[in-house]
Amino acid sequence: PTTTTQPTHGDLTVGGVPLTDIAERFGTPAYLIDEADVRARCRAYRRAFPDADVLYAAKAFLCRAMAHWVEEEGLGLDVCSAGELELAVTTGFPADRIVLHGNAKSPHDLAAALRLGVGRIVIDSASEIARLAAAVPPGSRQKVMVRVVPGIAAGGHAKIRTGTDDQKFGLSLADGSAQHAVARILGQPTLDLVGLHCHLGSQITTEKPYLAAVRRLVGLMARIKDQHGLALPELDLGGGHGIAYRPGEEALDIAALARRVRAELVGSCAAADLPVPRLTVEPGRAIAGPAGVALYRVLAVKRTGGRTFVAVDGGMSDNPRPALYGVRYLPRLLGRRSTAEPAAVTVVGRHCEAGDILASDVALPGDVRPGDLLGVPVAGAYHLSMASGYNLVGRPPVVAVSDGHARLLVRRESLEDFRSRDIGL
Ligand code: LLP
Repeated sequence: PTTTTQPTHGDLTVGGVPLTDIAERFGTPAYLIDEADVRARCRAYRRAFPDADVLYAAKAFLCRAMAHWVEEEGLGLDVCSAGELELAVTTGFPADRIVLHGNAKSPHDLAAALRLGVGRIVIDSASEIARLAAAVPPGSRQKVMVRVVPGIAAGGHAKIRTGTDDQKFGLSLADGSAQHAVARILGQPTLDLVGLHCHLGSQITTEKPYLAAVRRLVGLMARIKDQHGLALPELDLGGGHGIAYRPGEEALDIAALARRVRAELVGSCAAADLPVPRLTVEPGRAIAGPAGVALYRVLAVKRTGGRTFVAVDGGMSDNPRPALYGVRYLPRLLGRRSTAEPAAVTVVGRHCEAGDILASDVALPGDVRPGDLLGVPVAGAYHLSMASGYNLVGRPPVVAVSDGHARLLVRRESLEDFRSRDIGL
Protein backbone atom coordinates (compact mmCIF):
# COMPACT_ATOMS: atom_id res chain seq x y z
CA PRO A 1 0.00 0.00 0.00
CA THR A 2 1.20 3.46 -0.79
CA THR A 3 -0.45 5.18 2.15
CA THR A 4 -0.45 4.65 5.87
CA THR A 5 -2.82 6.50 8.11
CA GLN A 6 -0.31 7.26 10.84
CA PRO A 7 -0.35 10.83 12.02
CA THR A 8 2.68 12.00 13.98
CA HIS A 9 2.69 14.57 16.80
CA GLY A 10 1.20 17.83 15.61
CA ASP A 11 -0.03 16.47 12.28
CA LEU A 12 -3.34 17.88 11.30
CA THR A 13 -4.91 16.00 8.44
CA VAL A 14 -5.86 12.50 7.29
CA GLY A 15 -7.47 11.94 3.91
CA GLY A 16 -7.16 15.68 3.36
CA VAL A 17 -9.38 16.45 6.37
CA PRO A 18 -8.13 18.37 9.44
CA LEU A 19 -8.48 16.10 12.47
CA THR A 20 -9.45 19.03 14.65
CA ASP A 21 -12.42 19.61 12.32
CA ILE A 22 -13.53 16.02 12.74
CA ALA A 23 -13.29 16.28 16.51
CA GLU A 24 -15.29 19.50 16.51
CA ARG A 25 -17.90 18.41 14.00
CA PHE A 26 -18.52 14.88 15.29
CA GLY A 27 -17.30 15.13 18.89
CA THR A 28 -14.96 12.76 20.68
CA PRO A 29 -14.23 9.94 21.06
CA ALA A 30 -14.58 9.28 17.35
CA TYR A 31 -13.10 6.87 14.86
CA LEU A 32 -12.15 7.90 11.39
CA ILE A 33 -11.43 5.57 8.54
CA ASP A 34 -9.48 6.55 5.47
CA GLU A 35 -11.42 5.24 2.47
CA ALA A 36 -8.53 5.63 0.02
CA ASP A 37 -6.26 3.68 2.35
CA VAL A 38 -8.74 0.81 2.66
CA ARG A 39 -9.13 0.69 -1.11
CA ALA A 40 -5.35 0.84 -1.66
CA ARG A 41 -4.85 -2.11 0.68
CA CYS A 42 -7.54 -4.11 -1.12
CA ARG A 43 -5.84 -3.38 -4.43
CA ALA A 44 -2.44 -4.32 -3.08
CA TYR A 45 -3.90 -7.71 -2.07
CA ARG A 46 -5.45 -8.20 -5.51
CA ARG A 47 -2.09 -7.38 -7.13
CA ALA A 48 -0.16 -9.67 -4.80
CA PHE A 49 -2.64 -12.56 -5.21
CA PRO A 50 -3.83 -12.23 -8.82
CA ASP A 51 -4.90 -15.90 -9.08
CA ALA A 52 -6.45 -16.17 -5.63
CA ASP A 53 -9.69 -15.09 -3.97
CA VAL A 54 -9.16 -12.44 -1.33
CA LEU A 55 -11.85 -12.31 1.34
CA TYR A 56 -11.99 -9.41 3.78
CA ALA A 57 -12.55 -10.74 7.31
CA ALA A 58 -15.57 -8.69 8.38
CA LYS A 59 -14.93 -9.32 12.09
CA ALA A 60 -12.07 -6.80 11.95
CA PHE A 61 -14.50 -3.96 11.24
CA LEU A 62 -17.78 -3.93 9.37
CA CYS A 63 -20.23 -1.25 8.41
CA ARG A 64 -22.18 -0.85 5.19
CA ALA A 65 -19.63 1.49 3.60
CA MET A 66 -16.79 -0.91 4.41
CA ALA A 67 -18.70 -3.79 2.79
CA HIS A 68 -19.33 -1.59 -0.23
CA TRP A 69 -15.67 -0.54 -0.60
CA VAL A 70 -14.24 -4.05 -0.41
CA GLU A 71 -16.94 -5.32 -2.76
CA GLU A 72 -16.08 -2.62 -5.29
CA GLU A 73 -12.40 -3.54 -5.03
CA GLY A 74 -13.23 -7.11 -6.01
CA LEU A 75 -12.80 -8.85 -2.65
CA GLY A 76 -15.12 -11.40 -1.12
CA LEU A 77 -16.15 -11.47 2.53
CA ASP A 78 -15.53 -13.77 5.49
CA VAL A 79 -18.37 -13.58 8.01
CA CYS A 80 -19.01 -15.51 11.20
CA SER A 81 -22.60 -14.68 12.08
CA ALA A 82 -26.00 -14.07 10.54
CA GLY A 83 -25.55 -10.45 11.64
CA GLU A 84 -22.39 -9.84 9.61
CA LEU A 85 -23.88 -11.79 6.73
CA GLU A 86 -27.18 -9.91 6.61
CA LEU A 87 -25.55 -6.50 6.95
CA ALA A 88 -23.34 -7.28 3.96
CA VAL A 89 -26.05 -8.81 1.80
CA THR A 90 -28.54 -6.04 2.50
CA THR A 91 -25.81 -3.61 1.38
CA GLY A 92 -25.70 -5.40 -1.94
CA PHE A 93 -22.75 -7.71 -1.32
CA PRO A 94 -23.13 -10.76 -3.59
CA ALA A 95 -23.81 -13.73 -1.29
CA ASP A 96 -21.86 -16.14 -3.49
CA ARG A 97 -18.67 -14.20 -2.63
CA ILE A 98 -19.29 -14.70 1.09
CA VAL A 99 -17.90 -17.50 3.28
CA LEU A 100 -19.49 -18.37 6.63
CA HIS A 101 -17.21 -19.40 9.50
CA GLY A 102 -17.81 -20.18 13.14
CA ASN A 103 -17.11 -22.86 15.73
CA ALA A 104 -20.67 -22.65 17.06
CA LYS A 105 -22.98 -21.63 14.26
CA SER A 106 -26.52 -21.22 15.52
CA PRO A 107 -29.53 -22.61 13.65
CA HIS A 108 -30.26 -18.97 12.81
CA ASP A 109 -26.76 -18.49 11.28
CA LEU A 110 -27.09 -21.62 9.14
CA ALA A 111 -30.64 -20.77 8.05
CA ALA A 112 -29.57 -17.26 7.01
CA ALA A 113 -26.57 -18.62 5.11
CA LEU A 114 -28.71 -21.13 3.22
CA ARG A 115 -31.54 -18.67 2.58
CA LEU A 116 -29.19 -15.98 1.25
CA GLY A 117 -27.06 -18.47 -0.68
CA VAL A 118 -23.54 -17.98 0.71
CA GLY A 119 -20.70 -19.25 -1.45
CA ARG A 120 -19.11 -21.54 1.15
CA ILE A 121 -19.80 -22.73 4.67
CA VAL A 122 -16.71 -23.80 6.60
CA ILE A 123 -17.40 -26.84 8.75
CA ASP A 124 -15.72 -26.58 12.11
CA SER A 125 -16.89 -29.65 14.02
CA ALA A 126 -18.15 -33.19 13.40
CA SER A 127 -21.57 -32.47 14.86
CA GLU A 128 -22.10 -29.64 12.42
CA ILE A 129 -22.04 -32.00 9.43
CA ALA A 130 -25.37 -33.75 9.97
CA ARG A 131 -26.98 -30.56 11.26
CA LEU A 132 -26.03 -28.61 8.14
CA ALA A 133 -26.77 -31.49 5.78
CA ALA A 134 -30.30 -31.71 7.17
CA ALA A 135 -30.88 -27.96 6.89
CA VAL A 136 -30.08 -27.84 3.16
CA PRO A 137 -33.28 -28.20 1.13
CA PRO A 138 -33.43 -31.65 -0.49
CA GLY A 139 -32.35 -31.57 -4.11
CA SER A 140 -29.92 -28.66 -3.62
CA ARG A 141 -26.28 -28.78 -2.52
CA GLN A 142 -24.28 -26.40 -0.33
CA LYS A 143 -20.59 -25.93 -1.05
CA VAL A 144 -18.56 -26.54 2.10
CA MET A 145 -14.96 -26.62 3.28
CA VAL A 146 -13.41 -28.33 6.29
CA ARG A 147 -11.49 -26.23 8.79
CA VAL A 148 -8.34 -28.17 9.56
CA VAL A 149 -6.10 -27.62 12.57
CA PRO A 150 -2.65 -28.26 11.15
CA GLY A 151 -0.71 -28.27 14.44
CA ILE A 152 1.27 -25.09 13.81
CA ALA A 153 1.86 -22.52 16.55
CA ALA A 154 1.74 -18.96 15.19
CA GLY A 155 0.23 -15.63 16.17
CA GLY A 156 0.89 -12.54 18.22
CA HIS A 157 -0.76 -13.64 21.49
CA ALA A 158 -2.00 -16.88 23.08
CA LYS A 159 -5.61 -15.70 22.78
CA ILE A 160 -5.39 -15.35 19.01
CA ARG A 161 -3.50 -18.56 18.13
CA THR A 162 -5.67 -21.11 16.39
CA GLY A 163 -3.27 -23.45 14.61
CA THR A 164 -2.76 -25.99 17.39
CA ASP A 165 -5.04 -28.62 18.92
CA ASP A 166 -5.38 -27.00 22.34
CA GLN A 167 -7.99 -24.45 21.24
CA LYS A 168 -11.62 -24.57 20.20
CA PHE A 169 -11.54 -24.13 16.41
CA GLY A 170 -11.45 -26.69 13.63
CA LEU A 171 -10.80 -30.40 13.18
CA SER A 172 -7.46 -31.89 14.09
CA LEU A 173 -5.09 -33.17 11.45
CA ALA A 174 -3.03 -35.04 14.04
CA ASP A 175 -5.78 -37.22 15.53
CA GLY A 176 -7.51 -37.91 12.22
CA SER A 177 -10.70 -35.89 12.95
CA ALA A 178 -10.24 -33.80 9.81
CA GLN A 179 -9.95 -36.86 7.59
CA HIS A 180 -12.91 -38.48 9.32
CA ALA A 181 -15.01 -35.35 8.76
CA VAL A 182 -14.10 -35.37 5.07
CA ALA A 183 -15.37 -38.94 4.73
CA ARG A 184 -18.64 -38.09 6.49
CA ILE A 185 -19.22 -35.00 4.35
CA LEU A 186 -18.66 -36.99 1.18
CA GLY A 187 -21.48 -39.27 2.31
CA GLN A 188 -23.97 -36.38 2.50
CA PRO A 189 -25.90 -35.80 -0.75
CA THR A 190 -26.75 -32.18 0.19
CA LEU A 191 -23.13 -31.17 0.85
CA ASP A 192 -20.53 -30.46 -1.82
CA LEU A 193 -17.00 -30.56 -0.38
CA VAL A 194 -14.84 -28.13 -2.37
CA GLY A 195 -11.76 -27.74 -0.23
CA LEU A 196 -9.82 -27.39 2.99
CA HIS A 197 -9.46 -24.32 5.19
CA CYS A 198 -7.13 -23.36 7.99
CA HIS A 199 -6.62 -20.18 9.97
CA LEU A 200 -3.43 -20.29 12.00
CA GLY A 201 -4.01 -17.28 14.16
CA SER A 202 -3.68 -13.54 14.05
CA GLN A 203 -0.93 -10.94 13.97
CA ILE A 204 1.54 -13.36 12.33
CA THR A 205 4.63 -11.53 11.09
CA THR A 206 6.57 -14.21 9.18
CA GLU A 207 5.71 -16.33 6.14
CA LYS A 208 7.04 -19.59 7.54
CA PRO A 209 3.91 -20.86 9.31
CA TYR A 210 1.87 -20.31 6.14
CA LEU A 211 4.32 -22.39 4.12
CA ALA A 212 4.17 -25.16 6.72
CA ALA A 213 0.38 -25.01 6.56
CA VAL A 214 0.45 -25.37 2.77
CA ARG A 215 2.63 -28.49 3.09
CA ARG A 216 0.40 -30.09 5.72
CA LEU A 217 -2.88 -29.32 3.97
CA VAL A 218 -1.58 -30.50 0.61
CA GLY A 219 -0.50 -33.68 2.43
CA LEU A 220 -4.08 -34.14 3.62
CA MET A 221 -5.38 -33.42 0.12
CA ALA A 222 -3.14 -36.19 -1.20
CA ARG A 223 -4.52 -38.65 1.37
CA ILE A 224 -8.07 -37.63 0.45
CA LYS A 225 -7.26 -38.31 -3.18
CA ASP A 226 -5.86 -41.74 -2.32
CA GLN A 227 -8.79 -42.64 -0.13
CA HIS A 228 -11.68 -41.16 -2.12
CA GLY A 229 -10.27 -40.52 -5.59
CA LEU A 230 -11.11 -36.82 -5.20
CA ALA A 231 -8.71 -33.93 -5.83
CA LEU A 232 -10.17 -31.01 -3.86
CA PRO A 233 -10.17 -27.85 -5.99
CA GLU A 234 -9.79 -25.20 -3.25
CA LEU A 235 -7.44 -24.30 -0.42
CA ASP A 236 -8.21 -21.43 1.98
CA LEU A 237 -5.27 -20.32 4.14
CA GLY A 238 -7.27 -17.92 6.35
CA GLY A 239 -5.93 -14.58 7.48
CA GLY A 240 -3.74 -13.39 10.32
CA HIS A 241 -1.34 -11.18 8.39
CA GLY A 242 0.45 -9.05 10.97
CA ILE A 243 0.73 -5.26 10.90
CA ALA A 244 2.90 -2.70 12.71
CA TYR A 245 1.13 -0.91 15.55
CA ARG A 246 4.11 1.37 16.12
CA PRO A 247 6.82 2.60 13.81
CA GLY A 248 9.62 0.05 13.62
CA GLU A 249 7.43 -2.94 14.48
CA GLU A 250 7.48 -5.90 12.13
CA ALA A 251 4.68 -6.38 9.59
CA LEU A 252 4.09 -9.26 7.22
CA ASP A 253 5.22 -8.52 3.66
CA ILE A 254 2.12 -9.42 1.66
CA ALA A 255 3.78 -9.55 -1.75
CA ALA A 256 6.53 -11.84 -0.42
CA LEU A 257 3.94 -14.00 1.33
CA ALA A 258 1.99 -14.36 -1.91
CA ARG A 259 5.07 -15.34 -3.92
CA ARG A 260 6.34 -17.87 -1.43
CA VAL A 261 2.93 -19.43 -0.77
CA ARG A 262 2.36 -19.86 -4.49
CA ALA A 263 5.79 -21.44 -4.98
CA GLU A 264 5.23 -23.78 -2.03
CA LEU A 265 1.76 -24.72 -3.26
CA VAL A 266 2.94 -25.45 -6.79
CA GLY A 267 5.93 -27.46 -5.50
CA SER A 268 3.96 -29.47 -2.91
CA CYS A 269 1.19 -30.28 -5.38
CA ALA A 270 3.68 -31.38 -8.04
CA ALA A 271 5.40 -33.66 -5.50
CA ALA A 272 2.05 -35.15 -4.47
CA ASP A 273 0.82 -35.43 -8.05
CA LEU A 274 -2.15 -33.17 -7.34
CA PRO A 275 -3.62 -30.37 -9.45
CA VAL A 276 -2.91 -26.96 -7.86
CA PRO A 277 -6.05 -25.89 -5.95
CA ARG A 278 -7.43 -22.36 -6.16
CA LEU A 279 -6.13 -20.35 -3.23
CA THR A 280 -8.10 -18.10 -0.87
CA VAL A 281 -6.75 -15.70 1.78
CA GLU A 282 -8.80 -13.89 4.42
CA PRO A 283 -7.07 -10.75 5.71
CA GLY A 284 -8.98 -8.57 8.17
CA ARG A 285 -6.55 -6.54 10.27
CA ALA A 286 -4.13 -5.85 7.39
CA ILE A 287 -6.91 -4.13 5.44
CA ALA A 288 -8.78 -2.22 8.14
CA GLY A 289 -6.20 -1.71 10.90
CA PRO A 290 -3.81 0.87 9.48
CA ALA A 291 -6.68 2.82 7.86
CA GLY A 292 -8.28 3.81 11.17
CA VAL A 293 -7.49 6.50 13.73
CA ALA A 294 -9.17 6.90 17.11
CA LEU A 295 -9.63 10.48 18.33
CA TYR A 296 -9.90 11.27 22.02
CA ARG A 297 -10.10 14.45 24.06
CA VAL A 298 -7.94 14.69 27.19
CA LEU A 299 -10.17 15.21 30.24
CA ALA A 300 -7.67 15.06 33.09
CA VAL A 301 -3.95 14.91 33.75
CA LYS A 302 -2.83 13.54 37.10
CA ARG A 303 0.60 12.91 38.60
CA THR A 304 0.52 10.19 41.23
CA GLY A 305 2.56 7.21 42.40
CA GLY A 306 5.46 8.34 40.26
CA ARG A 307 3.42 8.24 37.07
CA THR A 308 1.62 10.78 34.95
CA PHE A 309 -1.85 9.65 33.91
CA VAL A 310 -3.48 11.28 30.92
CA ALA A 311 -7.18 10.40 31.01
CA VAL A 312 -9.24 10.57 27.85
CA ASP A 313 -12.95 10.42 27.04
CA GLY A 314 -12.91 6.85 25.62
CA GLY A 315 -11.15 3.71 26.72
CA MET A 316 -11.67 -0.02 27.03
CA SER A 317 -15.26 0.17 25.79
CA ASP A 318 -14.05 1.29 22.36
CA ASN A 319 -10.62 -0.38 22.46
CA PRO A 320 -10.35 -3.48 24.65
CA ARG A 321 -7.14 -4.65 22.91
CA PRO A 322 -4.52 -3.35 25.38
CA ALA A 323 -6.43 -4.98 28.26
CA LEU A 324 -7.01 -8.24 26.37
CA TYR A 325 -3.73 -8.76 24.55
CA GLY A 326 -1.32 -6.24 26.05
CA VAL A 327 -1.04 -4.47 22.70
CA ARG A 328 1.11 -1.34 22.79
CA TYR A 329 -0.33 1.68 20.97
CA LEU A 330 1.35 5.00 20.40
CA PRO A 331 -1.03 7.94 20.96
CA ARG A 332 -0.13 11.28 19.37
CA LEU A 333 -0.89 14.83 20.36
CA LEU A 334 -2.88 16.37 17.53
CA GLY A 335 -4.06 19.82 16.64
CA ARG A 336 -1.23 21.82 18.14
CA ARG A 337 2.53 21.73 17.87
CA SER A 338 4.21 21.60 21.23
CA THR A 339 7.83 22.51 21.90
CA ALA A 340 7.71 20.98 25.39
CA GLU A 341 10.14 18.17 26.19
CA PRO A 342 8.59 14.73 25.79
CA ALA A 343 7.47 13.07 29.02
CA ALA A 344 6.60 9.45 29.75
CA VAL A 345 2.87 9.19 30.45
CA THR A 346 0.21 6.51 30.80
CA VAL A 347 -2.87 7.17 28.70
CA VAL A 348 -5.94 5.81 30.45
CA GLY A 349 -9.62 5.66 29.64
CA ARG A 350 -12.67 6.88 31.52
CA HIS A 351 -14.01 3.51 32.66
CA CYS A 352 -14.43 2.34 36.21
CA GLU A 353 -11.46 0.07 36.53
CA ALA A 354 -7.72 0.48 36.92
CA GLY A 355 -7.02 -1.85 33.99
CA ASP A 356 -8.58 0.63 31.59
CA ILE A 357 -5.22 1.61 30.12
CA LEU A 358 -4.85 2.57 26.46
CA ALA A 359 -1.07 3.01 26.43
CA SER A 360 1.49 2.59 29.22
CA ASP A 361 4.66 4.62 29.38
CA VAL A 362 4.46 6.42 26.07
CA ALA A 363 6.08 9.73 25.23
CA LEU A 364 3.82 12.75 24.82
CA PRO A 365 4.84 16.40 24.95
CA GLY A 366 5.30 17.34 28.61
CA ASP A 367 2.67 20.08 28.47
CA VAL A 368 -0.20 17.78 27.50
CA ARG A 369 -3.31 19.13 29.22
CA PRO A 370 -7.09 18.83 29.43
CA GLY A 371 -8.71 19.88 26.18
CA ASP A 372 -5.91 18.46 24.03
CA LEU A 373 -6.76 16.14 21.19
CA LEU A 374 -5.05 12.74 21.01
CA GLY A 375 -5.01 10.41 18.04
CA VAL A 376 -4.34 6.67 18.23
CA PRO A 377 -3.14 5.36 14.86
CA VAL A 378 -3.74 1.83 13.55
CA ALA A 379 -7.16 1.76 15.19
CA GLY A 380 -9.20 0.38 12.30
CA ALA A 381 -9.35 -3.32 13.23
CA TYR A 382 -10.87 -5.04 16.27
CA HIS A 383 -11.64 -1.84 18.14
CA LEU A 384 -15.21 -0.95 17.26
CA SER A 385 -16.03 -4.51 16.24
CA MET A 386 -15.25 -5.52 19.83
CA ALA A 387 -16.63 -2.36 21.46
CA SER A 388 -18.97 -2.75 24.42
CA GLY A 389 -21.65 -0.84 26.24
CA TYR A 390 -19.62 -0.65 29.45
CA ASN A 391 -20.68 2.19 31.76
CA LEU A 392 -23.30 3.28 29.19
CA VAL A 393 -20.75 5.57 27.63
CA GLY A 394 -22.01 4.83 24.12
CA ARG A 395 -19.98 3.55 21.20
CA PRO A 396 -18.18 6.25 19.18
CA PRO A 397 -19.20 7.33 15.70
CA VAL A 398 -17.35 6.26 12.56
CA VAL A 399 -16.39 8.99 10.14
CA ALA A 400 -15.08 8.29 6.63
CA VAL A 401 -12.48 10.66 5.24
CA SER A 402 -11.67 10.85 1.56
CA ASP A 403 -10.55 13.54 -0.87
CA GLY A 404 -10.76 16.28 1.73
CA HIS A 405 -14.30 15.36 2.82
CA ALA A 406 -15.57 13.80 6.02
CA ARG A 407 -18.87 11.98 6.23
CA LEU A 408 -20.58 10.18 9.06
CA LEU A 409 -20.92 6.43 8.45
CA VAL A 410 -22.10 5.26 11.85
CA ARG A 411 -23.53 7.68 14.39
CA ARG A 412 -22.60 7.79 18.06
CA GLU A 413 -24.57 5.40 20.25
CA SER A 414 -26.94 7.39 22.41
CA LEU A 415 -28.74 6.87 25.69
CA GLU A 416 -31.88 6.52 23.59
CA ASP A 417 -30.33 3.49 21.91
CA PHE A 418 -29.83 1.85 25.31
CA ARG A 419 -33.27 2.92 26.51
CA SER A 420 -35.02 1.52 23.49
CA ARG A 421 -33.74 -1.98 24.33
CA ASP A 422 -34.46 -1.69 28.04
CA ILE A 423 -38.15 -2.52 27.94
CA GLY A 424 -38.89 -3.95 31.41
CA LEU A 425 -39.43 -2.42 34.84
N1 LLP B 1 -10.20 -15.89 8.94
C1 LLP B 1 -10.67 -16.47 10.07
C2 LLP B 1 -11.32 -17.78 10.00
C3 LLP B 1 -10.52 -15.80 11.29
O1 LLP B 1 -10.96 -16.37 12.40
C4 LLP B 1 -9.89 -14.53 11.33
C5 LLP B 1 -9.73 -13.81 12.59
C6 LLP B 1 -9.45 -13.97 10.12
C7 LLP B 1 -9.62 -14.68 8.95
C8 LLP B 1 -8.81 -12.61 10.04
O2 LLP B 1 -7.66 -12.51 10.80
P1 LLP B 1 -6.77 -11.17 10.69
O3 LLP B 1 -6.25 -11.13 9.27
O4 LLP B 1 -7.65 -10.01 10.96
O5 LLP B 1 -5.72 -11.34 11.71
N2 LLP B 1 -9.61 -9.75 18.30
C9 LLP B 1 -8.26 -10.14 17.95
C10 LLP B 1 -8.17 -10.83 16.62
C11 LLP B 1 -9.06 -12.04 16.51
C12 LLP B 1 -9.02 -12.64 15.13
C13 LLP B 1 -10.10 -13.64 14.98
N3 LLP B 1 -10.13 -14.26 13.72
C14 LLP B 1 -7.35 -8.90 17.98
O6 LLP B 1 -7.84 -7.82 18.27
O7 LLP B 1 -6.16 -9.00 17.73
